[in-house]
This record gives sequence, C-alpha cells and structure tokens, in this order.
Amino acid sequence: MPASVQLGTGQLPIDQSFSVTAFHDRSLNEEIIRFEDQLHRQTGIPFRGKPGAAPTLTVHFNHGRETVQKLGEDESYELTVTDSGAKLTAPTSLGILRGLQTFLQLVEITPTGFAVPAVTIKDQPRFPWRGLMIDVSRHFIPLDVLKRNVDGMAAVKMNVLHWHLSDDQGFRAESKKFPKLTTMASGEMFYSQDEIRDFIAYAHDRGIRVVPEFDMPGHSRSWFLGYPELASGPGPYTLADGGIAPAIDPTREETYKFLEKFIAEMAKLFPDAYFHIGGDEVDGKQWDANPKIQAFKQAHGMKSDQDLQAYFNRRLQKIVAKNHKTMMGWDEILHPDLPRTIVVQSWRGQQSLAAAARQGYSGVLSYGYYLDLMWPAARHYAVDPMSGDAATLNLDQQKLILGGESCQWAEWVTPENIDSHIWPRNAAIAERLWSPQNVTGVASMYARLHVVSLNLEWLGLTHRSARTLMLHRMAGDSSISALRVLADVVEPVKDYDRWDETKQGPIDFHAPLNRMIDAVYPESDTAREFAAFVQAYVQGGAKDPVAEAQIRASLTLWRDNDARLHPLLEQSFLLQEDEGLSQNLSALAAAGLAALDSIDKAQPPPDAWKTQQLALVEQAKKPQAGLLLMIAAPMEQLIQASATHN
Ligand code: ACM
Repeated sequence: MPASVQLGTGQLPIDQSFSVTAFHDRSLNEEIIRFEDQLHRQTGIPFRGKPGAAPTLTVHFNHGRETVQKLGEDESYELTVTDSGAKLTAPTSLGILRGLQTFLQLVEITPTGFAVPAVTIKDQPRFPWRGLMIDVSRHFIPLDVLKRNVDGMAAVKMNVLHWHLSDDQGFRAESKKFPKLTTMASGEMFYSQDEIRDFIAYAHDRGIRVVPEFDMPGHSRSWFLGYPELASGPGPYTLADGGIAPAIDPTREETYKFLEKFIAEMAKLFPDAYFHIGGDEVDGKQWDANPKIQAFKQAHGMKSDQDLQAYFNRRLQKIVAKNHKTMMGWDEILHPDLPRTIVVQSWRGQQSLAAAARQGYSGVLSYGYYLDLMWPAARHYAVDPMSGDAATLNLDQQKLILGGESCQWAEWVTPENIDSHIWPRNAAIAERLWSPQNVTGVASMYARLHVVSLNLEWLGLTHRSARTLMLHRMAGDSSISALRVLADVVEPVKDYDRWDETKQGPIDFHAPLNRMIDAVYPESDTAREFAAFVQAYVQGGAKDPVAEAQIRASLTLWRDNDARLHPLLEQSFLLQEDEGLSQNLSALAAAGLAALDSIDKAQPPPDAWKTQQLALVEQAKKPQAGLLLMIAAPMEQLIQASATHN
C-alpha cells in the first residue's frame, strides 16, 4: 500500500503497442527489459511498440544508482497514470525500480482488455531496512532458488537479503584462505566466490543489498571440522553432532589471527557496508569446562560468560571496523562496552530493540517476523517496529530503529518447499515495513496479499505449485482431489512445536521432508475464510439462509471426504499418519451439519449431544502428524450456537 494514492477516472489500456522510454543507464535498461518481460508474463501479450508513437510509460530520474547500494538511499517515486499514458519520476533510479513494481501491481483484467486504473501515487518507504533473512546452513538452498526469492523481495520492495551462511550444520561460503571451512563442512554444498559475486550483482540489479552473516562464537560447530583449534573444547567434531553446542575459544590470540584473515577476505567479497557476526545463543558449557578459559576470565575480572562474549565482540568489532564495515549482531551482542556504531538485530523480544535505542544503538526488529514459526500473516502484520516499548522512545531514539527483517530458519525447509514457507506471508511483513504505520486493516491486507500471491507466481516462485507436486508424490497415480480437500484445512503446528517430534535426539538434516506437514501451506485460506464466515453467520443470529447454504456446502464436502480419501491414505506410507486427521475432519463436519439442523428446526440439541460434540472438538484440536485441523474452532462456534440460536 503506497504512502499516498489518489484514484483518477478512466484507465490506461495495456495492449500490444505498450512501450517504455529507452535509457542510457545500463542497470535501468536491464530493469526495463525485465519489467516488460514481467508485464508480458502477467498479460500474455507480446509487446511490439509502435514505431514513431509516443511511449505509453515515460520514466524520469535525476541520479543513477550507487555502485554499492547504501542504507537510506532514496527509494521514493511518483507515478501518474491517465487514460492516455503513464509517467514515473524519482530522484534516483532506485526509486524507479520501486515504481515499476507498483505499476505491475496495478495491472488488472477488465471487460475490454488489460488496463491500469488512472491514479496518482506518491510513495516512499517508512523504514530504510526491510529485510529477509534466509538460513542456508541447516538446509542448503541453491542460487536459483535464492534468486527467485530475490525477485519476490523486489516485487514487494524489500531491500536487504540477510544471508545466514554458517551455523552448526554447515558452512556455505567459500574461503580461499581457509578452504577447509567448506571442503569439510558443507557436504559439497556451498557457494563459490564467483557464485557469490554473481548473486550479489543479481540482487543489486533489483535494488537489494546482501548482508552476510557468519555466526560466532556460538552456532559455529561447522568451523571446527576443518579448524578444531578454534574450538573451546576437544573434538573431533561432526555436523550431525547434537550434544553441547561448541563455541569459539575467545581467549587464544590465534583465534583473532584467524578472524583477521577471514574477515578481511569476506569483507572484500561482500561489498555491503554491514557485516553480521551472529552472536546469538552462545552455550557457555564448553567455556565453563575449559580450565584455561576459566583462568582467563578470572585474570581479566570477568564475572560471566556474557562478559567473555563482550570481550570477544570488542575484539571482533575492531577487526570488522578495520575492514570499513559496520558490525551487526543478534541482540545478545548488546553490551555497554561496545561502541554505539554497532547494529542490534532483535529476535528475543521487541523490548530489546527499544532498550538498544535508549542506549544509543541502532537496531532492526525480527521478533514477530519469524516465518518458520508458521504464524498467520495477520499476526506478523500486527507487529510494528515502533510499537511496544519502542512507542515511548523520543524522536532521536526512534530514528535508530532502522526497520525489520523476516527470518526463514531452515531446519524444516528444502529447496522444494522453502518458497511456500516464505510466501505469501513475507509480503505482509514487507508492507508493514514499507507502508504508513496507520495501514493496519487485516481484511484489506488479506485482499492485497491474495493478489500479490498470484502475481508472485509469474516470477517463478513455487509457493503455490510445490504443494500440488508434493501431494502427487504422496498419492502415487491416484487422484489428489480428496487429498487436496484435507490439505486445504490443515496447518503445520506452530512455534517450535515441531521440534517436540525430535526430542529423542538431534534433528537429522538429511531426512526427507516429504510428509503432509512439509507440503501444506503455513496458513490455510480456506479455514480462515470459513471461520470468518461462520463468525458473521452466528453473530447475525444464525438467520441468513444464503450464508447457511454456503456453510452447509463446505461441511458436506468435508463430511464425505474421509470416505473418498481413506483408500488412498491406506495405500501410501507417507499418508498413513494422516488417517486420524481425515476422520476428524469428517466427524467435525457431521457435527457442524447436525448443529445447523437443530438451528433450522429451532430445537436445541440435548445437553449430552453437545457435551459429546465439544469433546470431539477438543480432541480434534490436538495436533496429529504435526498438523492442526483449522476448522475445529468454527465448528465449536456452530455447536455452541445450536444451543442458543433457536
Ligand atoms: C536466533 O533465532 N537464534 C537468532
């Protein structure tokens, strides 16, 4: 949603004669070609222009792009569309990139052809830092998948790809100085330096900065396979190890010699001004078990492992600064000993962002934007970097809040399903970070999200299509129509509940992710829309016969689905675990239909029936095979209504 929109009258037709003014700026030329290609994909129209005719869309800007995109570079633009043409102006060509994406979002089908409505838009971002973090350590994500996600980010005007390149489970960026980082800890799945440069250029062309993260001193087991001398405890180390999380030894001078060389190399490879050193969740057990480290702490008057980490961070910060970079880290790095130039990424709670700003540190909010927690878009959308404790900051402190970043941790994603875990929900977070603070309406957000989700498919994102393929895999050569009915009304368990399945030991990151929980969308549109519909029906006194007929249609489909689906569930080893879910869906739907019958007959059901059905609802709310049946709550509402609306 732009900062300001004024609708005009009429519309600009998009037909074969559509053309854009030509340019001399190389990167913009390519952007215009991409824009025309995208418009072609969305409409199916091959554009030919008309020799000698005035261009449909003219583009004007004053300055070209920075070679290395800067935080806070002007992204504003103005777009005016009339029935005879469109004009896009911006102070910089970066603003043009943003405006072209808005133009693409405006294209709609009409009875007379494709068209863009007449409109005047003046737009600029609310926050300069609008990021997406992708973890490529737990599961390696190849560059083609990252690139299509960068295309998606550009479509929703995000401007930072935070690349979580190392963690306990894998080291993914090639170092020529320390080749064993990848030869011993990536399983041959890493990015070469040439590939990294190519990816950064790709992102830059789309107005996106790339900030690398090398997590230290915790989450760093992968470093120790090739360089065990960096560790605080004896090895040997393997990637699959699930024991104590080892940590880098901050007391040895050799550690800093290593980091001097490593960071100098990476600082050259990654041109962005920011360098993320991680710093989260340091497990001090190895430090506590090492007498030399304990002696070091005592000799330096350090009282805690936090003090020791702060010592490490001070040394690290000097190395990062020497390489002309600004150090960034997760909120555990916040410590008064560190200079105010560092950036704190808040993930454990919103209050740490405000606490950092009060102490003069700038920060980025990620708490509330963890895509891997499987929250609905509305819940992410409600999180504002300036709310909570941040609402009481003074103006100078508010300026220190640079924006936010969604996070896609990769324990449970593969290249096959990562798109569906990021999209479309990430677009809601992107809007939170771009659009004015008072744009908060959830119904209109979902209406826009639906359109964005469809448009993202034209970029090659597989957030919708992957599910169909995965359902076909589970079903073999059987029809998936009944399976789709079930898939439409379930969601994966929330927060960190999936980890409960693996309490017995470490997660096996080589295990297949091909179950129903891996295929379904994190948020069920069907269930959300059904719940809203039931809510309106019940609140309206359960009187609307048209609404009731619609509810009955859904309930009948669901009631009859188990009989259709059951044979398939039995014959596929991947689907057997979903038998209970399918039975519950049918039983719940039958209860909902009975509730409607008693409303129609104005006959309250017997108390015993109600008690029995509510017990069924409670049982159906429990996760099965890692999945939640999302229509349990609206069914409860119908059963309750049957006892009162008679
Ligand atoms: C984190 O989620 N450990 C930053």
